[in-house]
Amino acid sequence: MKVLVTGGAGFIGSHVNKLLLNQGHQVTVIDDLSKGHKEIVDLKVDFHQTSLDDQQQLESILTGHDVVIHMASYIEVGESVKKPVEFSQNNIVGTVKLLEAMKNTGVKKIIFSSSACVYGKPAKVPITENDSLGEQENPYGITKVAMEDFCKLYFTLHGFDVTILRYFNPYGPGELHQPETHAIPNFIKSTLAKTPIPLFWKGEQIRDFIYIDDLAAAHVLALSLTGLHIYNVGTEKGSKVIDVVKKIFEIIGYEVPIDDKGERKGDVTTLVASAKKIKQELGWNPQISLDEGLKKTIDFFRSHPSST
Ligand SMILES: NC(=O)c1ccc[n+]([C@@H]2O[C@H](COP(=O)([O-])OP(=O)(O)OC[C@H]3O[C@@H](n4cnc5c(N)ncnc54)[C@H](O)[C@@H]3O)[C@@H](O)[C@H]2O)c1
Repeated sequence: MKVLVTGGAGFIGSHVNKLLLNQGHQVTVIDDLSKGHKEIVDLKVDFHQTSLDDQQQLESILTGHDVVIHMASYIEVGESVKKPVEFSQNNIVGTVKLLEAMKNTGVKKIIFSSSACVYGKPAKVPITENDSLGEQENPYGITKVAMEDFCKLYFTLHGFDVTILRYFNPYGPGELHQPETHAIPNFIKSTLAKTPIPLFWKGEQIRDFIYIDDLAAAHVLALSLTGLHIYNVGTEKGSKVIDVVKKIFEIIGYEVPIDDKGERKGDVTTLVASAKKIKQELGWNPQISLDEGLKKTIDFFRSHPSST
């Protein structure tokens, strides 16, 4: 298939590109490089440095594609609190411009990168796709809910094929966010640099960490879907954050001190996916255990010291 990936110079997009190419698909990337890295985009990709904001340019690039995987977004929660206008403009208006460009060029299939954050503080775990969406405590979360809603609206109004993938906690090699606010890369980088690990809630929160290659596989399986579908993408296994820290110490072979940051407003205690739906309907099954994934991620940061 001819696939256009928005945000394909980002962490997750760069892995999705590789898997698509390996499976024989043709890949076009649009990314404005506001947060991404051109050097992690596979050389076989047709790369365009452009923004979602430029609808005319989007239309000229989109023509002839079969499907869009829409990952372009600002993602940093703390920054969204400081810059709600920029986040709304970039994420929500950017998505609407993309959907309009798709409508105008007859490209009517989209796979959208959503997040477990749309569930807010879940009433129970594991979380299923039928559980209600929760109250959002930051602009980023609101933009993800709105982006989902616009995708659903284009299914209803214009007959688009829409698949929404709600990621739980992705991690893996190549995670180079600036600033990095995600737990695993920060824990690994601090340990390798022999500096204290900043930890909230004494690491008692429970998260469902999903390895990047397993996450990427879900996108490829969704390419052939028609209609409207929503899937959680998580391992169904909850890990305590402090236990992840201990595993990292064990793999690296030494410990560093913990910098106890106390409690943090807005944090959810436990997030674990039910992934029954995607397993049953798409035959998706995560292959990489947390131990194996952590080893691969540590190897990446060891061999890329400039990223730490
Ligand atoms: N990383 C996670 O933990 C996580 C969890 C849940 C959902 N998601 C979603 O997955 C997607 C990808 O996340 P990521 O971790 O790869 O983030 P990332 O920041 O590494 O990648 C996003 C990419 O989008 C690009 N971009 C942003 N705004 C753009 C615009 N207007 N036009 C063109 N390009 C633009 C950036 O330059 C960047 O390369 C996002 O939609 C994010 O909300 C990520």
